Amino acid sequence: MTVHFIGAGPGAADLITVRGRDRIAACPVCLHAGSLVAPEILRWCPPGARIVDTAPLSLDAIMAEMQAAHAAGLDVARLHSGDLSIWSALAEQLRRLDGLGIPYTLTPGVPAFAAAASVLGRELTVPALAQTVVLTRTSGRASPMPEGERLAAFAATGATLAIHLSIHVVESLTAELIPFYGADCPAAVVFRATWPDETVVKGSLAEIPQLVSAKSLGRTAIIFVGRALDAQNFRESALYAADYDRRFRPNGAVGTGPS
Ligand SMILES: C[S@@+](CC[C@H](N)C(=O)[O-])C[C@H]1O[C@@H](n2cnc3c(N)ncnc32)[C@H](O)[C@@H]1O
Repeated sequence: MTVHFIGAGPGAADLITVRGRDRIAACPVCLHAGSLVAPEILRWCPPGARIVDTAPLSLDAIMAEMQAAHAAGLDVARLHSGDLSIWSALAEQLRRLDGLGIPYTLTPGVPAFAAAASVLGRELTVPALAQTVVLTRTSGRASPMPEGERLAAFAATGATLAIHLSIHVVESLTAELIPFYGADCPAAVVFRATWPDETVVKGSLAEIPQLVSAKSLGRTAIIFVGRALDAQNFRESALYAADYDRRFRPNGAVGTGPS
């Protein structure tokens, strides 16, 4: 018996990986984080599967489900939104499973920031302008920010910011960022990327709070800030330059196209 943790993607059911879909189809028990995992994904569960929404459950109750499945010899598909590596409460579940001696696997998923960037039609890193993306959040009731991870410290680098779990503080957050990025810096908010009610708000950093408050769009949103968002005048990457010598195209020999 194994617990298969699976990143279920940002919303649209066809953005789960093939491996994730196949693991769901092979597990007679499915535990899913109900609020952010699309119901369509549960159609992959085999007939008669035990399907449990863990949104209202405590960690103890979730572990009890896994232990019961373990005792019965039943594999579990454990679904989290986006990818497992960020804000999925994975670490605490793995620590408990390690303590119980229950085996597990991890299958990655499409993270919401990547889905939201594709909705914007933007690359978050642009040559010589922004080569770093900071995936961060502000303090919440469940998780205070560690002392060294202040927004201002990240802003001082000028990197592209992808701020999660923070739309409710968009006003104070933009005020904190303006001294670093400038009031005219491009910003965008993507609500519920790839869900049917996906919504995009774009504007300057100074405009964003008002644009957001004009709509009532819930809390599932990522705030992007950075010059990469509307970059026009940037140098092209040397990678595909005709005279660039690289391993797969020695001495700039004409290649077959981008890889
Ligand atoms: C608990 S975190 C989960 C993150 C997830 N593990 C991932 O890989 O993206 C939830 C936050 O992720 C962001 N988020 C998740 N799904 C989203 C979506 N479809 N569109 C925009 N933001 C999303 C929001 O900031 C939301 O408050």
